[in-house]
Amino acid sequence: MATTGKAGPLKAAPGAEAQAPPTVLVIHGPNLNLLGRREPEIYGRTRLRDIDRSLKQLGRELGLEVETFQSNSEGAIVDRIQRAQGRARVLVINPAAYTHTSVAIRDAITASDLPTVEVHLSNVYKREPFRHHSTIADIVVGRIMGFGAEGYLLALRAAQRLIEMERVAAGA
Ligand code: DQA
Repeated sequence: MATTGKAGPLKAAPGAEAQAPPTVLVIHGPNLNLLGRREPEIYGRTRLRDIDRSLKQLGRELGLEVETFQSNSEGAIVDRIQRAQGRARVLVINPAAYTHTSVAIRDAITASDLPTVEVHLSNVYKREPFRHHSTIADIVVGRIMGFGAEGYLLALRAAQRLIEMERVAAGA
């Protein structure tokens, strides 16, 4: 089971106490609903609902609102990214098998303008060559892979840093 560790919450800007916490959207692609049962020697034994629960708990500690979404359908993932534009501050996404094929998800991320962190449970470079290509690798801020479920929590911490850096850059 992934752990959350300690981290300071994002400080509210002066006079912004009543503002809602920044939202991070976490998207899980196809077959990740089977986590825990699916090839546990590769993907581990942590279930998706436990990952989502850990993400929301870490989000509370970091002062972030975490929304999670899983779909086996490419179109539903594109729709969810489109809906996040102007609402979420950072996208964390494991497109799963669509990583290797989907121009539609790449285009949706580009159109959304959302800073994005790509996550994979496994180190795809230790696996079959067809998993080495990602359609989004060159448009994301960064990629985290090979750390199992913990990778999502690392990605959420990265998202917090991105939001904090944006706030500093904006002089807020
Ligand atoms: C995955 C790697 C993909 O190649 C695979 O199709 C997945 C999961 C990962 O998290 O390691 O479904 O994205």
